Amino acid sequence: MNNILIDKTEKIATITINRPRKLNALNKATIQELHNAFTTLETDENIRVIILTGCGDKAFVAGADISEFVDFDVSQATVLSKRGQELLFDFIENLKTPVIAAINGFALGGGLELAMSCHFRVASNNAKMGLPEVSLGVIPGYGGTQRLPQLVGKGKAMELIMSASMLNAEEAKNYGLVNYVVSQEELLPLCKKLAIKISKNSSTAISAAINAINANFDSSKNGYAIEIEQFGKCFESKDFTEGTTAFLEKRKPNFK
Ligand code: COA
Repeated sequence: MNNILIDKTEKIATITINRPRKLNALNKATIQELHNAFTTLETDENIRVIILTGCGDKAFVAGADISEFVDFDVSQATVLSKRGQELLFDFIENLKTPVIAAINGFALGGGLELAMSCHFRVASNNAKMGLPEVSLGVIPGYGGTQRLPQLVGKGKAMELIMSASMLNAEEAKNYGLVNYVVSQEELLPLCKKLAIKISKNSSTAISAAINAINANFDSSKNGYAIEIEQFGKCFESKDFTEGTTAFLEKRKPNFK
């Protein structure tokens, strides 16, 4: 692993994209390393929540690595987009383990698309977010045209993508793109605090909730039907037995 760092503290893993001299731009190798890390962490029974952030105080991720695709033709570009979506962006969105994006600076292009693939976002007050692809003669290719309107609404997404403009952290919060804005020093502590709160709940139920919520945004699925199915499945889990028993015994649940 040359491009990412992984820290595991108690039940929380923090993945840091570590290419600060390139503002953590996503090259092919980083995308593969992130895929491998998420795959391993998802099956690690000790890890309940994953935080994703960028190294340094300037950037979360300043986009896909432009130097890698400048000379691509149509078929290479199509493969780049498809492969990236499968390996990383759709992969994170559908991960069973909750993923929080800690946006510590620029989140542009593929960087904002990466943050939007996470289950929710927290930003530091120096963060700047946007999808500037049309200023390069291209469009977002890692799910940005789909996830931005889901999060902020169609009109705002149209304007942001067409104008290639950047939002500051407060604007992003007003848009509903990030849930909290704090200082850089407070960013990871807040994400960890949120992660600890999440980690106390049933991981089985959280995975089922992720699955049902995501179905709302998948036109090939009936979200209500998925909810019914996931709701039913919870009843065969040990967590359901523990959660309901603990409630009736007037004690805190101890989910394994
Ligand atoms: N791909 C490849 N390299 C990138 C990059 C990207 N998306 N974003 C930044 N870098 C590199 C720069 O080329 C530079 O490398 P160098 O020192 O070897 O020349 C280094 O990171 C630092 O970036 P620099 O542009 O000098 O920093 P800055 O503070 O002047 O500007 C940004 C910061 C984020 C405004 C600017 O880097 C930028 O516009 N990046 C591209 C954003 C973008 O269009 N992303 C969408 C891509 S589809």
